[in-house]
Amino acid sequence: MMRITSLSRLLRGLLLLMALATSSLFAPAFAQQYAAIDTSVQPLSNKICATCHGAYGQGNAVVGAPSLAGLESWYLKEQLIKFRDSIRGVEKDYIPAHEMRAAVAELSEAEMDEVVAYIETWDVTPGATTVIGDTVRGAGLYANCSACHGLSATGNRALSAPALVNRDDWYLRRQLKLFQSGYRGQHPEDIAGAQMRSAAQLLKSDEDINDVLAHIGTLN
Ligand code: HEC
Ligand code: HEC
Repeated sequence: MMRITSLSRLLRGLLLLMALATSSLFAPAFAQQYAAIDTSVQPLSNKICATCHGAYGQGNAVVGAPSLAGLESWYLKEQLIKFRDSIRGVEKDYIPAHEMRAAVAELSEAEMDEVVAYIETWDVTPGATTVIGDTVRGAGLYANCSACHGLSATGNRALSAPALVNRDDWYLRRQLKLFQSGYRGQHPEDIAGAQMRSAAQLLKSDEDINDVLAHIGTLN
């Protein structure tokens, strides 16, 4: 009998000690660790962009945020300005772009340059390939696009046309539909967008879109 009581007393003592240890000994240690993290030295992209685009710009299809790694810096900056100045992403019923616009609404010119310079250091990841289409037919359709985006879809800065290789095809498909419906490229100040908006009308069906994207996928 005596032995059981002392054993249970010992157990109770141990439990008490453990409770004390977690509450009073470990807690300050954790707090100290967190206090040691200086969030002010975190890059802006971690603070603002990573939640949607991923820590290294790998993209997130669930929130509709494309991969950013590999985007040309001039194009990146132009799009950031368009979102910030409400030239792109103003329609409230297309929530993904609306959220992107809100995320960068307060960015200064200097902050944009900082983010763009940082994104430039990221490794290019091949875009997601989810679209299935006829690559031969797509190559024919792409003849309409190559004048601006280049034969190998590597882009043409002089024409403000970005590279289309190594991009997420689900994102490109969505953009083509946004251009077609006037959700992108309709703002009077969006000269480059307006050019692309009329080019997008050359694709007459979902099949056309899938085929041209399947061809672009072969250029990755
Ligand atoms: C709330 C989520 C969210 C945050 C935060 C966010 N983005 Fe976006 N971003 C998106 C979405 C969604 C899109 C796609 C919009 C569309 O479909 O038109 C996008 C589009 C873009 C584009 C256009 C890409 C292209 O090919 O035209 C760029 C550039 C971009 N984001 C950069 C950034 C940067 C840099 C930051 C941080 C300063 C940032 N984003 C923060 C969600 C976000
Ligand atoms: C007259 C020149 C021109 C032609 C032709 C053209 N584009 Fe574009 N495209 C552009 C420009 C300029 C942009 C950038 C628009 C902007 O700044 O918002 C663009 C943007 C895009 C985008 C959005 C990229 C992104 O990151 O969001 C896609 C997708 C695209 N073009 C696909 C095509 C396809 C497919 C064709 C052929 C059917 C085509 N383009 C023909 C000039 C052109």
